[in-house]
Amino acid sequence: MAIKKRFDVPFLGFGLGLRAPHYEELLSSSGQVDWLEIISENYMLDGGQGPHTLAPFKEKYTVIPHGVSLSLGSADALDKPHLKRLKALLSYLNPPWFSDHLCWAGVGGAHMHNLLPLPYTQETVEYVAKKIAIIQDTMGIPFLIENLSSYVEFQESEMTEWEFIKAIAETADCGILLDVNNIYVSSRNHHFDPMDYVRGIPANRVIQYHIAGHQDHGTYVLDSHDRPVRDEVWDLFAKTVPLMGDVSVMIERDDHIPPLSELLEELNHAKAIYTKNIYAPT
Ligand SMILES: [Fe+2]
Repeated sequence: MAIKKRFDVPFLGFGLGLRAPHYEELLSSSGQVDWLEIISENYMLDGGQGPHTLAPFKEKYTVIPHGVSLSLGSADALDKPHLKRLKALLSYLNPPWFSDHLCWAGVGGAHMHNLLPLPYTQETVEYVAKKIAIIQDTMGIPFLIENLSSYVEFQESEMTEWEFIKAIAETADCGILLDVNNIYVSSRNHHFDPMDYVRGIPANRVIQYHIAGHQDHGTYVLDSHDRPVRDEVWDLFAKTVPLMGDVSVMIERDDHIPPLSELLEELNHAKAIYTKNIYAPT
């Protein structure tokens, strides 16, 4: 379905995360991967692995920074030195957008090294949206918030997760990185219909997808990003595509990194599903 997006950004096609075992192949191969996503914090070190280390990739690919530590929901104020380093990375890469997770990851200066869920309340919406608006204004390009997978919920929540994401995105006027696997994982853990979630997300703000693998333990599902995408997630992706319009796709593998050829097979599968369903009747 053709959907007018809130932000004037390009459709990048089908991308992969930049992971060390694939550096050489990604630089020598051509045409199989349309774009790359990096973990922002890996390239923000003063005097160490700074933005310049991405030079060869930047020449060949659009490189999209995806962060893990803005900690949007933390009671702590935004970390200004961190924002300065992020701005330097964005200035170097000049990407059409950047992203981070809708979560909190620490408080009182301590980092939990985990992406933790938030209570879905109006108070949280306003608090987080204010931070996002500051970040987006500071960086000067569209910022996308990514939905988490979660295992617990707060009793204080006043709305569903999809209502929460919609409210934040609209209040902050930002974009959405929709992780299809995370929707599936949370739907199993919290017993909701994943299509209720998908239908509740404002399509005009969805700019990028993540698709990833998980572990199914029967009574709960673990978002592990360490194995191939499962059929249940491919099915959900197929149903999501026609509702969202043009959205750049990325396969996300963070652990047990397989040979590039294996990820290319998954990427081609994603492309086939996307192409088949993008104009399917809804
Ligand atoms: Fe993700």
